[in-house]
Amino acid sequence: MSVSAPKMQGAEPKYQFICASAVLFPAFGMSKIGFAQKPNLIKFAPNIYRHTDMETVVSGIRPTGNLHLGNYYGAVTSFVKMQEEYNCLFFIADWHSLTTHPKPENIQSSVRTILAEYLACGIDPEKATIYIQSDVPETIELYLYLNMNTYIGELGRVTTFKEKARKQPDNVNAGLFTYPTLMAADILQHKAVKVPVGKDQEQNMEMARKCARRFNNIYGVEFFPEPQNFHYSQQAIKIPGLDGSGKMGKSEGNCIYLFEDAKTITKKVMRAVTDAGPQSPNSPKPEVIQNLFTLMEIASAADTYKYFDEKWNDCTLRYGDMKKQLAEDIVKTLSPIRERILEYSNNTELLDSIARRGAEKARESAAKTLKEVRQIIGFRTY
Ligand code: TRP
Repeated sequence: MSVSAPKMQGAEPKYQFICASAVLFPAFGMSKIGFAQKPNLIKFAPNIYRHTDMETVVSGIRPTGNLHLGNYYGAVTSFVKMQEEYNCLFFIADWHSLTTHPKPENIQSSVRTILAEYLACGIDPEKATIYIQSDVPETIELYLYLNMNTYIGELGRVTTFKEKARKQPDNVNAGLFTYPTLMAADILQHKAVKVPVGKDQEQNMEMARKCARRFNNIYGVEFFPEPQNFHYSQQAIKIPGLDGSGKMGKSEGNCIYLFEDAKTITKKVMRAVTDAGPQSPNSPKPEVIQNLFTLMEIASAADTYKYFDEKWNDCTLRYGDMKKQLAEDIVKTLSPIRERILEYSNNTELLDSIARRGAEKARESAAKTLKEVRQIIGFRTY
């Protein structure tokens, strides 16, 4: 399999960034999304200006229902931070969702929901490119090329494939099988070097690196950089559920959703599983209690956490008080987000125009890569 062609003409040096403009332009007249502000929807500045010297970040979001507190603290807040520091492209992976054959009428609504929720959390289309996967047909072309160099043996060993095949034995389709090459195409089409994803995506990321390496080897080029998993903290943060079980997740049915109102959130927090209370000073916290403290550490101020931690240690903690405080702090964070979600969701025109702009930027980036890929592979370019 070692086709070693000479270094191709038109091949780019390593780490090529996708932005064309060298102008650093302050975003005049743009509305910022501030967390403590009233809903303030994004309006477009007439032109796109992007930094040239930033590394490229890509991440895909599967449109599988509403965002919850676990998604928010586990992923979205770092996306919001990353858009300040990197050339970010965030997309909604609607092609990937086809592996489970969703109904046509559900696709559009779930894509819009996710789009509204991400914007409401502070993803800013003036800073990051936010687009819908199916708006960028270049991805499928790269997917096809990458599939030619990917072997069924290695795809069959991917654990997420094996798990899904076990869960849906009547629908083990080729799209499911080649999920990693579509994901690799998502990333490589923008020559991204950093990919913020959870631990469960490590094997898919390894496949994306393999795709990049193999393409480079086959054609004797240094074209695709190898994308790396990325998160700000040492470890991916795990947001616990309120039912005493491990993590907050949709399938666990223990989520606080970003769109929920104060009453619902308070009710959920007040119902969180606890025990009989601290028995002796400075004792270790059992898991259910630790979960409550972990949530508080993330959602409340540092001195609030310290106050209740001290109460635990001297055995004067009343769970009711702690939960009330925690609920209040969660509501404080989520209520402006909720307001913005409602505003965005009711403004499909704005959502569509944001998606259109995102698609334009993403296509420009992907088309540039694909033009070179075609040349490298040996196709005619017109
Ligand atoms: N597989 C990812 C997930 O399940 C979603 C995804 C698709 C993705 N394409 C991607 C993530 C590209 C990062 C980059 O969460």
